[in-house]
Amino acid sequence: MRFSVLLVPVLLLIIPSMFENKHKEEVERDWEKVSVSKVLEALGEEPCWELDSSIPGVSAQKGYDLFHTGFITSDKGNTRRKQSKHFVCTSCHNIEKEDPDLSVSDPEARLSYTSSKGLPFLQGTTMYGAVSRRTFYNDDYEKKYGDLVFEARENIRNAIQLCAVECAQGRELEDWEIESLLAYLWTIDLKIADLNLNASELGSLNTALDNEEQSAEMATLIKSKYMAGSPAHFSDPNIDREMYGKSADMDNGELVYKQSCLHCHENGRYSYFHLDTTAMSMKYLTRKVEKYNDLSIYQVVRYGVHSVSGRKSYMPHYPLEKMSHQQLLDLRAYIENKG
Ligand code: HEC
Ligand code: HEC
Repeated sequence: MRFSVLLVPVLLLIIPSMFENKHKEEVERDWEKVSVSKVLEALGEEPCWELDSSIPGVSAQKGYDLFHTGFITSDKGNTRRKQSKHFVCTSCHNIEKEDPDLSVSDPEARLSYTSSKGLPFLQGTTMYGAVSRRTFYNDDYEKKYGDLVFEARENIRNAIQLCAVECAQGRELEDWEIESLLAYLWTIDLKIADLNLNASELGSLNTALDNEEQSAEMATLIKSKYMAGSPAHFSDPNIDREMYGKSADMDNGELVYKQSCLHCHENGRYSYFHLDTTAMSMKYLTRKVEKYNDLSIYQVVRYGVHSVSGRKSYMPHYPLEKMSHQQLLDLRAYIENKG
């Protein structure tokens, strides 16, 4: 009796600390490798978008295949019909980090960052770090997709499905396909090194991982270093038209043209409409610029090109966060100068 009376308080002290140490050892401290979600979990945050292990046949490799090629093969060896005749996910989404500072969405900073890495500059947000986001199709996307957005806004699985059908203009995905895409997205989560923490913040993170009282504060700091949703505000092309004549940077316009337009239009990669860097392409675009139809860069950039019956393929428009007024001005200057 005396023994157990003594033992209980001792165990109460020892047992939680055993668990605590075990828990802490799980977090690797190689910041190039360790995912932001893992660290937040270790700091006591609720996990989000966890994989559903009850769905058979799911794998990150299959998700990778579907994302990059449009094809996916089940465990039984059946390859499904290509997800979209027109696009693959990488037509519109990068899979690498595309913003030097993840806490802001700045298209100017993004363009110089992606260009320096040889990455395209696209209408869709990178899927790198998508699992760290909490909301999707933000702000003005409601205007484009209406009620469809409500189901997708706070649910990554529905966001994937919405994009497969509406953005990629393809077939609906089955549950195991969505889960495989999610498993793939988990392999490209943000890493702590992506957050540009300074030496003192990294020191505090190390301390907080061993010291529960500092967990909540550290989690708040980490979350302030990246955006939990990708902002999207649409613009009227007339606002851009009115800016003509203001100073423009042709070199920057060249980057927009090469890293964005040519990603889809060169050799008709994702569009029957071919563009290149010859004077012929530039003259064509220059002649159309003042028009009020799909051939004017103002219209296509701000409104996109809609799918019509017989031609389901379409061009997604650029919200202001994906192409600034200045960048569109620069693009025009480049095209006119070369044309
Ligand atoms: C034709 C272009 C296009 C294609 C193809 C495409 N997407 Fe998208 N996707 C977009 C655009 C534009 C958005 C709007 C929101 C954003 O990304 O900023 C979007 C949004 C998303 C979102 C929500 C992102 C966010 O942060 O709001 C997910 C997830 C997504 N797409 C996954 C996919 C997957 C998976 C595929 C392939 C099956 C795919 N997309 C194919 C253009 C495309
Ligand atoms: C994500 C891929 C993608 C990007 C990036 C893209 N486009 Fe397009 N664009 C398309 C598709 C798809 C169409 C629709 C026609 C089709 O099915 O080929 C189209 C249509 C157009 C058209 C109308 C062609 C016609 O005959 O009606 C123009 C002009 C155009 N794009 C210019 C541009 C310019 C300029 C840029 C860069 C600012 C750009 N595009 C970026 C995919 C893209």
